[in-house]
Amino acid sequence: MFQDIRRLVLTYKFGIDEVMTKIQILREEFRQMHDYNPIEHVGSRLKSFESLVDKCHRKDIPLNPAAIRENIFDVAGIRVTCSFVSDIYRVRDLICGQEDLTTLRERDYIAKPKPNGYRSLHVIVQVPVFMSDRVEPVAVEVQLRTIAMDFWASLEHKIYYKYDRVIPRHLTDSLKLAADVAWTLDTSMERIHNEVKQIAGGEPSAQRKGILNPEEVLRDFWRATEAFDSPAQDLDPGD
Ligand code: GTP
Ligand code: MG
Repeated sequence: MFQDIRRLVLTYKFGIDEVMTKIQILREEFRQMHDYNPIEHVGSRLKSFESLVDKCHRKDIPLNPAAIRENIFDVAGIRVTCSFVSDIYRVRDLICGQEDLTTLRERDYIAKPKPNGYRSLHVIVQVPVFMSDRVEPVAVEVQLRTIAMDFWASLEHKIYYKYDRVIPRHLTDSLKLAADVAWTLDTSMERIHNEVKQIAGGEPSAQRKGILNPEEVLRDFWRATEAFDSPAQDLDPGD
């Protein structure tokens, strides 16, 4: 059975290779043909055999290839970091619109962030992998986020494991605040970028939309922190 699972994990590696190639092609095309690239960075990871077995135990999933295929969708993972929020949806459309890919699931934690402040767009796509004796449909989890969302998620992830999944209240409060400020940064950067695009496109100033003055941008940041009351007072100095 372990041999079968190892073989299965190998198909997920090929699934990553297939989807990575698609993303690299898009990225390269943007680099060569356009004056602007929506993809900042791409990374991938294959779930280790040990953490796959761990996850099966944790979620009560039988340790066989069929059960893993049906229940676990993050054996193959790709993370795409984009410049702006609108790029996330644009890149998602460019990936999911490809004929040989099927979108199995989408979770939009940008439209609906997690209570802790986590934002990203998650899609699970299925790609056919052509092996010597069969064609295997393989699920690949693609996480799309901005640089600011990624910065936040990596810090939160480190803290989560440092505190063994129970983060002290003052840190969850600070993280939520940081997530909201990061979101304000994302929206401000996008507005500035759009403004520059309109100017570069030669649009007369009267027709430019959504132009902000610096005070308005600053006010957005204050607004992001306004909802935040003073941090919880029940701090344990040992935290
Ligand atoms: P898993 O079974 O744990 O993979 O979760 P799920 O199937 O409910 O999927 P979901 O789309 O919610 O999250 C999958 C992945 O997104 C995780 O493995 C993380 O990489 C990332 N993620 C989700 N929530 C958080 C979060 O609160 N903080 C951080 N740092 N990453 C998160
Ligand atoms: Mg996961």
